[in-house]
Amino acid sequence: MPNTIEVRNVSKTFRSVKRKLWFQKLPPDEKADPNVRLSSEKKLFWKSRLKETQALRDINLKIKEGEIRGLLGPNGAGKTTLAKIISTLVLPDTGKVVVNGYNVATETVRARFSIGLVTGGERSLYWKLTPLQNLRFFGNLYGMSRSESTRRALDLLSIFGLDSKKNDLVQNLSTGQKMRVAFARGLMHDPEVLVLDEYNRGLDPNVSRQLRDYIKQVLQKENGKTVLLMTHDMNVAEDLCNRITLINNGKIITEGTPNELMRNVGNSQVIEIETSDPLSPELVEVLKTYGEVEVTNGGGVSRTRMVVDNHSEITYEVLTKLNSSGTPVDNLTFKRANLEDVFVHYTGRRLGDD
Ligand SMILES: Nc1ncnc2c1ncn2[C@@H]1O[C@H](COP(=O)(O)OP(=O)(O)O)[C@@H](O)[C@H]1O
Ligand SMILES: [Mg+2]
Repeated sequence: MPNTIEVRNVSKTFRSVKRKLWFQKLPPDEKADPNVRLSSEKKLFWKSRLKETQALRDINLKIKEGEIRGLLGPNGAGKTTLAKIISTLVLPDTGKVVVNGYNVATETVRARFSIGLVTGGERSLYWKLTPLQNLRFFGNLYGMSRSESTRRALDLLSIFGLDSKKNDLVQNLSTGQKMRVAFARGLMHDPEVLVLDEYNRGLDPNVSRQLRDYIKQVLQKENGKTVLLMTHDMNVAEDLCNRITLINNGKIITEGTPNELMRNVGNSQVIEIETSDPLSPELVEVLKTYGEVEVTNGGGVSRTRMVVDNHSEITYEVLTKLNSSGTPVDNLTFKRANLEDVFVHYTGRRLGDD
């Protein structure tokens, strides 16, 4: 299917040899051997150990045309490995990936032309070249003519607000500027499908917002691109994605729209009431009929925290109760369960954990 990403039963195990230096005390009769001696007492040798990491376990994903899909999980979950497999940089051990209708294993070149990969961490550019030179270089790799790649590069640099920086060396740009050049690089060949791996890393809120708007408004709405976004940042996922897949230890945990996911976690809507005087014990008893109530006092503020199932109705009733008891409320906030709560609910682990 055009403009889609399909991942079927993909697994990947990395095998690497770990080498470690060890010292060994020499028995007295070997002390004379000049080849292995570090000192007269010890010899130095390498110990090797085969290390296996199963980075991905039976991953299945179907991303529709025009969808922004988030893959949300902590460090080490396997996101980058999947990004590399989808962008034809790494082969999976088992399974199949089809991008824009092309099998990445057998129609690699066509698949590669269909995908733009944007990775955070500034590794995807030549620091000793200017943004313009970088973009032209990558355009030429995609078979664009010199004039075509120059035109496209200038267009993109202008879209990303980098006109005045186009002839500076990349190494002299700020993190946000480098990221925007990296983004432009991923778009040079106007791919149908974009894979963004932690594109938000190290960006200040302004640049972050600009890129977010660009992804939503231009890439999705105007150009109908399909986007797969790997992130450990729940705010990025919640803001941008139509659907989110949670991943942990190389395995998919669950998938849904942000609202669906958050609805799955019961009892995690929170109402917080701030008053200058503590609520009366009778009032607290009344509030307890709606859910769990926890009161903390300190610094001249009394905080009453309620965990409830459905805050939209309860908030109104609670306010009425507070009002009729004559308790002035300084502040009332409610928050719904966020994606971090969802992740903890399924895995017992936070997204920031390593
Ligand atoms: N080239 C590699 N060699 C050995 N292990 C690797 C390699 N790449 C990734 N891994 C391991 O695979 C797991 C998943 O890594 P990665 O895909 O980078 O996760 P994420 O991007 O979600 O942080 C980690 O345990 C990581 O150490
Ligand atoms: Mg990663």
